[in-house]
Amino acid sequence: MTTETVMDLDHKYAMTTYKRNPLEVVRAEGVRLYDPSGRDVIDFLAGVAVCAVGHSHPRYVAALTEQLQRVVHVSNLVYNAPSAKLAERLCTLAGMDRVFFTNSGAEANEAAIKLARKRGTSVAAGKTQIVSALASFHGRTIATVTAGGQPKYSEPFGPLPGGFVHVAFNDCDALSAAVNEHTAAIFLEPIQGEGGINVADDAYLAHARALADAHNALLIFDEVQTGVGRTGTLWGWENSGIKPDVMTLAKGLGGGFPIGACLASGDAARVFVPGDHGSTYAGNPMATTAALAVLDIIGSEGLLSNARIIGALLQERIAHLANEFPEWIGASRGRGLMLGVNVPNGQAREIVGAALSNGLLMNATSEHTLRMVPPLVLTESDVCDAIDRLKAALQQLSGTSISAVRGAVSSTIAVEPGFLAGRDLLGIDDFSAKECQQILALAKRVKSGEISNTATGKVGALLFEKPSLRTKVSFLGALAKLGASGMYLGKDEVGLGKRESVEDVGRVLTRMVDVLIVRTFDPEILKGLAASCSIPVINALDDAEHPCQAFADFLTMQEHLGDITGKTLTYIGDGNNVAASLMLLAPKLGVHFRIACPDGYLPDARIWARAMALAADHGTKMERFSVPTEAASGADAIYTDVWTSMGQEEEHARRMAAFAGYTVTAEIMHLAAPGAIALHCLPAHRGDEIADEVMEGPWSRVFAQAENRLHAQQAILAAVL
Ligand SMILES: Cc1ncc(COP(=O)(O)O)c(C=O)c1O
Repeated sequence: MTTETVMDLDHKYAMTTYKRNPLEVVRAEGVRLYDPSGRDVIDFLAGVAVCAVGHSHPRYVAALTEQLQRVVHVSNLVYNAPSAKLAERLCTLAGMDRVFFTNSGAEANEAAIKLARKRGTSVAAGKTQIVSALASFHGRTIATVTAGGQPKYSEPFGPLPGGFVHVAFNDCDALSAAVNEHTAAIFLEPIQGEGGINVADDAYLAHARALADAHNALLIFDEVQTGVGRTGTLWGWENSGIKPDVMTLAKGLGGGFPIGACLASGDAARVFVPGDHGSTYAGNPMATTAALAVLDIIGSEGLLSNARIIGALLQERIAHLANEFPEWIGASRGRGLMLGVNVPNGQAREIVGAALSNGLLMNATSEHTLRMVPPLVLTESDVCDAIDRLKAALQQLSGTSISAVRGAVSSTIAVEPGFLAGRDLLGIDDFSAKECQQILALAKRVKSGEISNTATGKVGALLFEKPSLRTKVSFLGALAKLGASGMYLGKDEVGLGKRESVEDVGRVLTRMVDVLIVRTFDPEILKGLAASCSIPVINALDDAEHPCQAFADFLTMQEHLGDITGKTLTYIGDGNNVAASLMLLAPKLGVHFRIACPDGYLPDARIWARAMALAADHGTKMERFSVPTEAASGADAIYTDVWTSMGQEEEHARRMAAFAGYTVTAEIMHLAAPGAIALHCLPAHRGDEIADEVMEGPWSRVFAQAENRLHAQQAILAAVL
């Protein structure tokens, strides 16, 4: 059967729950997989952190072959020696009292949850809550998917079981606030695996231990991924010295044969009584023989220290790659052979694809994180081979993709005032990508004082139907700096479309002033004015867009991030007019755009579609998330705006409820790329869309951004006048 046939059959008959890589594996040995043509692929995925002792390890194969010939399965209604031996071995190695075997990680966690709840209820009625961390992953059963802190995995499957509380990972205060007398257990991964290789701080784990003790709750560590040597110690918790009451295992334990385990100590070990829990296959002789062989091999071949040494070497080699390919490879994190690598340009999936073409299998936990979890038998020469393959992939990608971000901003764009004389700016689409880049280049010259008084004697009228601080002052200031004068016409002075038709207002003003700057609600009013004026009309915010704001924002990004080509701007909150202009301008400047907003708050569908088309044209990405932490991960700038804009006041309560969880907090900023900046177009409601710690924190460029309204608008006026 050809690989093509295999893929066709799979696509036709298997439920499409996995995005598979285009690789058919027919044989594997050590750290190498082989396809039908005999091509070898270095396995940095290890069956998702499973094949701890590599593939086809002779001692593993021998142990299983022997057991296969004796007896495969017997049920839990009789005894079998491998199961009893493994129970003893695991309890001794972990310093725990008893174990319950399962077939998978999810089932091990399911057992832990049941155990914690039964124990909790025996302590006090209602002591059933499980407190777990955001971005965690505990499996795919209905309870474990609810315990996991990634709503995208649980939301489609409601109603979900109750009694699960999620807190920010590594946040001691959040944990303290969540744990109380109702808490049955605190449930954590020592290193979040699927969530992106996020290492728990030692102090955080110590805090969790103390809180669990203080509230007579259990501390459960999900060591499904971190356990069995992955982090360079047998159990992940040994790195911190904080021991849990309950520990769950799977993945590496069976080295490829399905087995999981839930270990417990103290009173937790005596919670289950006959009939409480069970599983047909669990602990069968094949699975437990596999686990005994894995533990034997880890011990006798020194794989724990190997994981530490080779892991450190791998991190060092990744650091070299980061110097060579800084857009593609950033810092690495993790322990032992459980590593995450930051991908600054957000193209982790592209790297995975190119690496596979070059003979290296990895996966990406997000656009910004590559995960490397190779077998623990990895050698120094395997690392060299793997890095060579990764480097070849990066060379290919950087040869194409860096320059493939079309419309990249050149630092030497030549532009003079008046280059857009007579043009309107109603929305970002009024200017081409090149013109947008030129506006920013002109703004820099304007700001440096190189350009001033280019519009001496001219007059600008500000026709404003909505209140304004920054826009009004910055336009009047910009006109003054250009040597022009400005007048402000408020809502009641003109009676636009009421006392006088839009068209007549346009026709009159066009004869008296040189530029019309309009703030209104309805984009049609703006269009009507533009149609009846021969002078430039500038949109100073309407319900559809806020283009001047967007120019100021990207100017701020350029100043604080350097070349913004290939950088990622994440907008968290209401997909309003500000978001619309940002998403239209981002592709034109070579910037990837992400938005995290609740359903129903995405920008206007036409603008979204237009932004998608622009992104396709310019080779940038447009992504939508419903989980702010995911959107923030690895981003270079995090942007937010008020949840209730002018004119939406009656929707305030509904909006506050819809945006709960969308606050830009320090936790969000920590998830962003190193050196990321926080932006807000103001006015800000601290504590709602943005936490005070961010407004006033090291990330904030909010006031520099406000100042740039002046410079960006001066450039726009200098261009059109
Ligand atoms: C930490 C953690 N817990 C639980 C699971 C679920 O394990 P399984 O897929 O064996 O059910 C995983 C799998 O990725 C995991 O990484």
